[in-house]
Parts: sequence; structure tokens; C-alpha cells
Amino acid sequence: MSQKERTEKEKKNGRMKEDPLLKLEARYCSWGDTVHYAEKLNIFNRSEGIYLYDREDTQFLDLQMWYSAANFGYRNSRLNEALKKQIDTLPQLACQYLHEEKIHLATKLAQRMDLTFEAEGRVHFNVGGSAAIEDSLKVVRNHTKKNLVFAFMGGYHGRTLGASAITSSYRYREKFGHFSDRAMFIPYPYCFRCPYDKKKGFCDLYCLQQFERLFETEYYSVVNKKNNNCEFAAFYVEAVQGTGGYIVPPAEYFSGLKEILDRYNILLVDDEVQMGFFRTGKFWAIEHFNVVPDVVVFGKALTNGLNPLSGIWAKEKLISPNVFPPGSTHSTFSSNPLGTAIGLETMRLIEESDFAVQAPKKGEYFLSALRQLAKKYPQMGDVSGLGLALRIEICQKDGFTPNKELTDAITNIGLSGKLGTGGKKRGLVLDVGGYYKNVFTLAPSLYIKEEEIDLAVDLFEEALKKGIALTA
Ligand SMILES: Cc1ncc(COP(=O)(O)O)c(C=O)c1O
Repeated sequence: MSQKERTEKEKKNGRMKEDPLLKLEARYCSWGDTVHYAEKLNIFNRSEGIYLYDREDTQFLDLQMWYSAANFGYRNSRLNEALKKQIDTLPQLACQYLHEEKIHLATKLAQRMDLTFEAEGRVHFNVGGSAAIEDSLKVVRNHTKKNLVFAFMGGYHGRTLGASAITSSYRYREKFGHFSDRAMFIPYPYCFRCPYDKKKGFCDLYCLQQFERLFETEYYSVVNKKNNNCEFAAFYVEAVQGTGGYIVPPAEYFSGLKEILDRYNILLVDDEVQMGFFRTGKFWAIEHFNVVPDVVVFGKALTNGLNPLSGIWAKEKLISPNVFPPGSTHSTFSSNPLGTAIGLETMRLIEESDFAVQAPKKGEYFLSALRQLAKKYPQMGDVSGLGLALRIEICQKDGFTPNKELTDAITNIGLSGKLGTGGKKRGLVLDVGGYYKNVFTLAPSLYIKEEEIDLAVDLFEEALKKGIALTA
């Protein structure tokens, strides 16, 4: 449809113009979500593959895919069909009754865990990553009879009260009173900005040694040395930090950590809400690191963002009906049939695809193009990643000092939708994360093609150049 035809149609339908719509939003929508982080508010109208389109039909190449929830591309026809089919058969069902899709999906996930980790367990569904984190906390507390957990500085586990208590940012807790079960936050191996100022490759995992030292004497506050009982029940990790800035740890870090945890019966809870479903080139990011988690939490891409289905897998001893009996946790929408039908189709799609080969291959192609660019622009201080979880850390000219101003400028230039040479104007959608809010966390569709990566790199370079000029 041409722009003229669209405008005509809008007139006919009495469709509201953008300005009055934004005025309504400003007046009636809560600003408590993240929309008003942005300088320019975009209203999107439709999507396809790796692109979003605004009301003027400007094409925006999306490098964040709903924070990695839409891994399999916008309007993936196979997954959309699964949803439509379920709508026409059994769209609603109270979660106390069974439907086939739930059983098949739980089976596929649990059998996959068994195959990958030789660990038997069960799956419990809920809605949204934070709610699944809450369920995992219940499982952990029930098994250990302890409340306290370790989590990482830079870690993000959601915004419900329980999830906020183990998410590192105080900003997310500040307004909401006392969090008695606030996690003890441990430095994450963020080698580009080592919290201990060590040099990557020459540190002998000093950060891990520091964690281990906590257990040396009871006076470091975590363990009773007389009986080796630790006050902390579990360690919540993101194997690759997501919101923290797509940070990949050294290869040996997690096996070293697990050894320490095992000594003190501390559970390892692996939050795969953002990195799960092949974002890093493996089904779970933790698979890169040669450890077996006790609990895995997942959400987002399980349904390609079509339904907020989430869940946990836990080892049998933590979640068997003997210890986690009926009614231990519940939500009206927890294993809803629309979500489980799409989740099941996602699992089938994964089984029939070769993401384990394609994601790393595409990731390498993307990374090498970005690294070429970084040679020209010292402001791209760190460019790295795993699979298709990539990061660009934006810095001052020294290649190290965080540069939030430039990061914001690039983001806004991308969102303005005015990039691109020739007749066609395009936008670029980038997500910003990182400890200093200066990291572009790139999570492109797993189906992105090489020519689309080339286009993404060109658009990024244009936005970067304009941003540098603007902030100079
Ligand atoms: C690692 C991780 N855990 C948990 C969550 C919370 O999930 P949700 O926003 O669906 O509640 C997120 C969300 O971004 C996440 O990235």
C-alpha cells in the first residue's frame, strides 16, 4: 500500500494522527515502564522478519528483537500458525485441567535437559520471566529451608519484589521499602572492566579466588566453619549477562564456581530468560561452560514473544511431587494453552533447524564486520559476543571511558528513522544495557541473513558518525 493510499485509508477510518495519540499516552499511560527512557517516542504499526514499521511505513532494522524474545523473527509464519490453530481449537482452559500441548512441551524440555546434562527433573510453567524467578525462589527455599542467595553484580532477574531483591541495581528497589532477602552481590567476571583491575588472561581468575576466600573463615560472614553450613541457599547466575551488557565470562569461570558451590551445598540457578533458545549458539548459554545447573529459569523466546509463557526446570530432588506437592505455586495463566502450543511448535522448529551451526556462523560474520569498524572508530571500545549475543561498548576516544552521551545520541539517531543513503530512509532499533548504560546489546533474529547484517553494520556506522559529530 502506498503512503497516499494509507493516508486516505486513515482518513476514512478516522485513524488518529501521531501527535494527539502521543498526547493521550502522555496523559493516560503510566510512565513507570521504560517507554519514557527514550527522547523520541516511536509508535510502531507492523513488523516482518527483522523489521519494524512505523505509521508512515518507515522501515526500522531491529537489532534487539524484543530483548531477545522474538529470536525466530517477527511474524514467524510457522509459530503464528500454531497460535491461530490453538485459538480455533482450545484457546482457554483453567490450569487445573490438562491439555496435550502442556504435557508435550514439558516432556521435550525435560528430556532435552536429561540428554544435555544427564539430569532428571521436571518443568513448571508460569507467565513472564520474573514470575518464573519467583517460582525458582520457592523451590530453592523449600529444598534448603534458607532464604538468602548470592547473585552477580550487573545481574538482572526481573522487577517483581522477589526478583528485584536478587537483581543488582538498587535503583529498581530504591522506592519500594526494605528488601530483607536482598542477595549478596558478587562481582561478575567482566574482563573488559575487571572489578579488580586485573588484565584478562593474566589474572588466574582472581575474582573467583576472592569469592572462594569468603569461605575461609566464619568471620567473612557466609559459612559456619564448624559444620560447613553456608547461610546462602543458591547462586543465581546469568551465564552470559544480558541487561548487564552481554558480557561473556572466561571459559573456565563457571566450572570453578560450581566446584566451590558444591563444597557448601549451594545450588546453582541458571537464569536463561534472555540467553536461552540459541541466542548464544547453544540451547542454553550455560552449555558453553561445562557445568550442570540445579535449576534453569526460562521465558521470552520460548514462544517467540507471542505469549508470555515462562517456566523453570528443576532437578527431581528439588521438584518431585513429594517435596513440591500440588498447590505449591500457581497462577491463572501459568500453563495457558496458547502459550504451550506455541512453545511446543518452537521446540519442534528448533529440532528441525540447525541454529547450533547457523547462530555461531552468523555471529562470527557480524562480529568480524563490527571489529573492522572498531578499527576506524576508537569509540567502539569493546566489540565481542557469543553466538548472536553481541556487544558494542561505546567509549570516549580513549577506547575505555564509558560514553553514555554518545550511546544515547546513536540510539536516538537510529530511532529517528532518517538513516540510509539513496531514496529510502530507514531506522535502526538498538537496545542499551551495561553497567554504565553505554553498551549496545545486539540480539538480532536468528534468521538474519548476511546481506541484512551488512545493512545493519552500514546503518550503525552512519548513526555512529552522526552521533560523534553531534556530541563532539
Ligand atoms: C535474565 C533475565 N531474567 C529475568 C527477566 C525478567 O523477565 P520478565 O521481564 O519477562 O519478567 C529478564 C528480562 O529481561 C531477564 O533478562
